[in-house]
Amino acid sequence: MKRHVIVTGGSRGLGLAIVTSLLDAGYRVSTCSRSLGDALPPLLEAHGDDLFWHQADIGDAASTEGFIQAAIAKLGVPWGLINNAGIAREGILATLPLVEVDRLIQTNLTGSIQTARAVLRQMLARGGGGRIINISSIIGQRGYTGLAAYAATKAGLDGLTRALAREVGRRRITVNSVAPGYLDTEMSGTLSAGQRDQIVRRTPLGRLGTAADVVPAILFLLGDGAAFITGQTLTIDGGIGC
Ligand SMILES: NC(=O)c1ccc[n+]([C@@H]2O[C@H](COP(=O)([O-])OP(=O)(O)OC[C@H]3O[C@@H](n4cnc5c(N)ncnc54)[C@H](OP(=O)(O)O)[C@@H]3O)[C@@H](O)[C@H]2O)c1
Repeated sequence: MKRHVIVTGGSRGLGLAIVTSLLDAGYRVSTCSRSLGDALPPLLEAHGDDLFWHQADIGDAASTEGFIQAAIAKLGVPWGLINNAGIAREGILATLPLVEVDRLIQTNLTGSIQTARAVLRQMLARGGGGRIINISSIIGQRGYTGLAAYAATKAGLDGLTRALAREVGRRRITVNSVAPGYLDTEMSGTLSAGQRDQIVRRTPLGRLGTAADVVPAILFLLGDGAAFITGQTLTIDGGIGC
C-alpha cells in the first residue's frame, strides 16, 4: 500500500520538486496552492489517482481545513505532512505594514500549525506513526536585514518542531524541520544581483542552493530509516550558517 503524504504549496519551487520526487519514490501525494500553475496539470494527468490537488489558501483557516479534509477523503489518513507553503515579504520592519506582518504569520506559522493539528488528530486516531516536516529557513536562525517578520515565522516553526516532537514522540510520530539556505526559486527572485553575489561569496560551497539539494533530506526523514530522529532542524545551506 502506497503511503500518502500531504505537501502544502506544491505548484512550484521547492514544493513542486518535493511532490515530483515523492511520486517517483512511490508515495501518493496531496498538495494545495492558491493557483494551479503550469507544472501541476501534466503531473496530475500522468499520475492519475496518486496525485490530488486542491485550491487552498493556507493563510485562511477555513480554506486550510477544507484542503486537509478533502485530501483525507481522497487518499486516506496521511503518513506524512510537509509544511512547505510559505511567503516572504521584504521590508524594514519599522515601515512594513501590519497587514503584511499578519499575512506572513497567518501563512507561514498559523497555517502550518493548523495543518499539523488537523493531520495529527487523524494520525493519533489511526493509532500513531507518521512524519511531520516543517520547512523553515536559515533566516530563522541567522536573520537577514529586511526579513525580520519572515525570520520570526521560521524560528517559530523550529520551536513548533521541538515542542511537538516531545508531545507526539510516544505515538511514533516524528517532527523535524528542514531549514534551507538561499534557494534559486521564484521566492528568491527579489534578491538583487549584489545580494546574490554576496550570498554566493559567503557560502563555503560557493553557490545558491536548489530544490534538488533539499529534497533528498525530506525523502530520508519520511522514510523508515529516520524513525529515531525527531525534534531536529536539519540545515541545508551550503555552509553559510556554519
Ligand atoms: N527560496 C528560498 O530561498 C527559501 C529558503 C529557505 C526556505 N524557503 C522556504 O521554502 C518553502 C518553499 O519556498 P519556495 O522558494 O519554493 O517558494 P515559491 O517558489 O514562492 O513557492 C511557494 C509555493 O507555496 C504556495 N503558496 C504560497 N502561499 C500560499 C498560500 N497562502 N496558500 C497555499 N499555498 C501557498 C505557492 O503557490 P500559490 O502562490 O499559487 O499559492 C507555491 O506553490 C517556503 O516555506 C519558504 O519559506 C525558501
